[in-house]
Amino acid sequence: MSTEPSGIVVVGSINADLVVTLERHPQPGETLLGRTMTVMPGGKGANQAVAAANLGARTTMIGAVGQDAYTVVALSGLHAAGVDTSAIQRVGTTTGVAIVEVDDGGENTIVVIPGANAEVTPELVAASAETIADAAVLVLQGEIPATSVAASVALARGRVVINLAPVINLDRATLLRADPLVVNEHEGALVLAQLTGSDPSDPADHADHADHADHAQTTRALLACGFASVVMTLGGSGALLASATDLLEIPAPTVQVVDTTGAGDAFTGALAARLSAGDSLADAVRVAVLVGAFAVGTEGAQPSYPSLTDQLPAAPTTSSITTGQETDA
Ligand code: RIB
Repeated sequence: MSTEPSGIVVVGSINADLVVTLERHPQPGETLLGRTMTVMPGGKGANQAVAAANLGARTTMIGAVGQDAYTVVALSGLHAAGVDTSAIQRVGTTTGVAIVEVDDGGENTIVVIPGANAEVTPELVAASAETIADAAVLVLQGEIPATSVAASVALARGRVVINLAPVINLDRATLLRADPLVVNEHEGALVLAQLTGSDPSDPADHADHADHADHAQTTRALLACGFASVVMTLGGSGALLASATDLLEIPAPTVQVVDTTGAGDAFTGALAARLSAGDSLADAVRVAVLVGAFAVGTEGAQPSYPSLTDQLPAAPTTSSITTGQETDA
């Protein structure tokens, strides 16, 4: 008997983050003294699962860890947030690790060693076929093999949210199931280049100097490729939401930035949580912007995510940069 899809399933990466704080990032060939090193749970998939569960969503994580010194910490945040971890497999390689450097301005650089995340194969995904099919919202990122993202999407009966971070090569049909596709400005430019066959270096370079009008244009151009909806995250400037009926600009509140690590994951997890609770996409993005802003206020990814008892920053006024009805997508 088939039941109505419910809850959130995240298929994705699980890491231990080795977070180093330092005054500034070193130049190539330079040695610097850092300040602190802390090991925290991370991985874009696990971060998104924790962000969603913290906001009350019933959340299941599908992925893989190794059996080494980092396994316990990598899973600790999922356990603490009450995420269902029963589908996570233990494989014979090391748990994924990320070296995260955070400078005094809160900006980070991240090097990821995938380890067990590379073992999230289509076969591992197929072992959770029913769980994926039963999800109201399936959430995916780019830190597991593209074939496994495609296998997950093929099993989905509910809504599919793809946060293509990092950008990997997905087949067009898989990618276009995203509703929404969630990307930052760099990722958006790269995905657009992938879909239109243009030179990927040009739009990515351009994204560094692009203004709001350029971001809106990229978001619209992505939508024109066939997505039902596209959300572009713009860090401290909030987010853009494009759907068939609208292009909304959703500004972020001004907050003190301590560490931006995992703020995009907090955004995506919150977005999925609100969608699974029945919000419109526009309302879900509004909450996600506030959750992302909250998450930059303390160090680390998962430890910085709000729960239902935390006070989110107040929302600034929302403006629509095109006319039209707000989307109910
Ligand atoms: O988005 C932040 C995450 O990226 C970190 O937690 C790290 O593990 C990498 O996956």
